[in-house]
Amino acid sequence: MEPNEKGPYVLTGKSHIAVAINAAAKAGEWIKSRVGAYGKLSVKNSDQDLVTETDKGAEQMIRRLIQTHFPDHAILGEESVAPGEEASIRALAEARKEEYLWIIDPIDGTTNFVHGFPFYSVSIALSHNGEVVIGVIYDPSRDEMFVAEKGKGAYVHGARMSVSGEARLAEGLIAAGFPAEENILLPLNLKGIGAVAPRARSIRAGGSAALHLAHVAAGRLSGYWEVGLNSWDVAAGALLVKESGGKVTDTIGSAYQLSVRNIVATNGALHAELLSVLKEAEATGF
Ligand code: IPD
Ligand code: CA
Ligand code: CA
Repeated sequence: MEPNEKGPYVLTGKSHIAVAINAAAKAGEWIKSRVGAYGKLSVKNSDQDLVTETDKGAEQMIRRLIQTHFPDHAILGEESVAPGEEASIRALAEARKEEYLWIIDPIDGTTNFVHGFPFYSVSIALSHNGEVVIGVIYDPSRDEMFVAEKGKGAYVHGARMSVSGEARLAEGLIAAGFPAEENILLPLNLKGIGAVAPRARSIRAGGSAALHLAHVAAGRLSGYWEVGLNSWDVAAGALLVKESGGKVTDTIGSAYQLSVRNIVATNGALHAELLSVLKEAEATGF
């Protein structure tokens, strides 16, 4: 562009992945500095669904960093969508038509962040024509940056990740979630936990969907499932798991795509067994 032509000034030369990593790192550091000083706390859909000024500030920070480099890309961020399942589904349906769409969860694990429990993350994904091509999850508490690029593998601080090898649920450490919506989603997930817990080596529920997925990718968890999530909870993590050799589907075994809300992500080897336990327990959410 000539200097006197009108239009946004675009910095060239920075790759999508570099921008995602930079944004996650900057936001993550700032979020960590706000533990114990998170600003105003509000509730969204239920008393258990929290949001703070820090969630909103972090999303603004990430948006500005992305827009500096890619002003014509679309952005879907949790804090810019009205609360509730319906609004989330509508926002994704609209946004996914965009060629380039950034999908952001500025703090995944807000409840942990509010309590100072060090298990929360920043999740940033980029989808190209509806397919996730970049996934970055940053854990500020452990200073771990999980990065995946479609077809190029997944890495944590430069070391290639691969999923774990447990072949049976009985040998597996499986993560699950306790969603904030207490009428439908919480009972469904509890039903699943009731069925999986006696069959697995043990169950964990850390409180950040994105971090659970990052740990499946890193081979530290054998699998993770949860019913009732949003695109921003899982888009980056789904790519991390796939690029680490794992499997990601919905709870009835259909391949992952952006609108999946009921997710199962495993090392692949015990995927079918986990699906069948959830089906038997009528805990798939379908
Ligand atoms: C939540 C976390 C939590 C999961 C909830 C999510 P948020 O996201 O991922 O682990 O159980 O379903 O909503 O609200 O902390 O961004
Ligand atoms: Ca989330
Ligand atoms: Ca969030």
